[in-house]
Amino acid sequence: MLLVTGGAGFIGSNFILDWFKQSDEAIVNLDLLTYAGNLQNLASLADDSKHIFVQGDIGNIALLEKLLAQYKPRAIINFAAESHVDRSIHGPEDFIQTNILGTFRLLETVRAYWNELNEQPKAAFRFLHVSTDEVYGSLSANAPAFTETHRYEPSSPYSASKASSDHLVQAYHHTYGLPVLITNCSNNYGPYQFPEKLIPLMIVNALAGEPLPIYGDGLQIRDWLYVTDHCSAIRRVLKAGKQGETYNIGGWNEKPNIEIVKTICTLLEESHPQSNFQNQITYVKDRPGHDVRYAIDARKIERELNWRPLETFETGIRKTIQWYLDNQSWVTDIQTGSYREWVEKNYAHRRK
Ligand code: NAD
Ligand code: TYD
Repeated sequence: MLLVTGGAGFIGSNFILDWFKQSDEAIVNLDLLTYAGNLQNLASLADDSKHIFVQGDIGNIALLEKLLAQYKPRAIINFAAESHVDRSIHGPEDFIQTNILGTFRLLETVRAYWNELNEQPKAAFRFLHVSTDEVYGSLSANAPAFTETHRYEPSSPYSASKASSDHLVQAYHHTYGLPVLITNCSNNYGPYQFPEKLIPLMIVNALAGEPLPIYGDGLQIRDWLYVTDHCSAIRRVLKAGKQGETYNIGGWNEKPNIEIVKTICTLLEESHPQSNFQNQITYVKDRPGHDVRYAIDARKIERELNWRPLETFETGIRKTIQWYLDNQSWVTDIQTGSYREWVEKNYAHRRK
């Protein structure tokens, strides 16, 4: 079986749901259920004995030892992280705790487990660390996209903590021979994304008649990938990736933020013809240290592992919008007091 960490979050829950569409192999899902973790994402698996949910911290060594001894996973996929740049600016400590210290403790416990495995399972074992293109820092307008050998130059507490975790994972391969794989993916979007990130926030705010807050001039560029394409890439890397290697994952889909937001407005107007959502666009104070551009060169994973995304931005964004239209109760359940506090903390001081 697999041990998946952070499987109640956005990408982890999509990964688990997709996994069971093509495999009977069981998954132990270890997730702390922070504000970003939501078991409703996995409600369709509530009666499925192949999904074993455990609430807990990747930094809890005693719990990890128990789970590894009990379930003997053949691989670990580490999604667990604090993942939002703006939150890392307001409060970096949780990012250091989970992304750096948590990953370290997970690696250390897994190393001890792996060392004791018999020859065959030891050789087949994999530790797949899910990371981000943000570790490479910001690109200028005409610079070539990030390859796997691009220098690490993280700029936010979030990306610095993910960069640290990547270095630790590499060090465990280099020093102890732990069979690791690292994936660095571009911005994801799709079902179950917490409405603090750009795309779900804009869909949710538009429908609620709230402002659509654009940081700075809105010309910052991100490279967007539909989440199920990220999931298929992770499956591919797990199966065929070469241990110790890094694979960049992206959709060749760079777009400025303002274009994303205008597209969302236009598509929402198809189901709300009386509305003009673009009137809700509001330019607000920029994010400090805002990275101008990310772009992934995904040729290595295509060349070596024959992986390509299936969705285009046009198909992916339509599916995403439809999902949020069809699942408004999922959104309202999230919009608790702590969500409203976050919105106040992040946006009140930006109003011009
Ligand atoms: P998310 O914030 O939606 O989910 C994170 C999950 O991890 C949550 O379920 C949370 O409860 C859990 N978690 C947090 N701290 C934990 C801890 N100490 N122990 C156990 N579980 C803990 O994040 P996401 O968007 O699904 O991202 C998943 C991974 O993918 C992260 O490592 C992130 O850096 C990486 N990534 C995300 C994107 C993106 O666009 N969202 C792109 C590239 C890479
Ligand atoms: P985000 O979804 O937070 O992802 P990341 O910062 O990890 O790329 O933000 C995507 C882009 O959208 C980023 O350039 C910041 C911008 N943005 C806004 O303009 N307004 C917002 O309210 C948010 C949340 C993000």
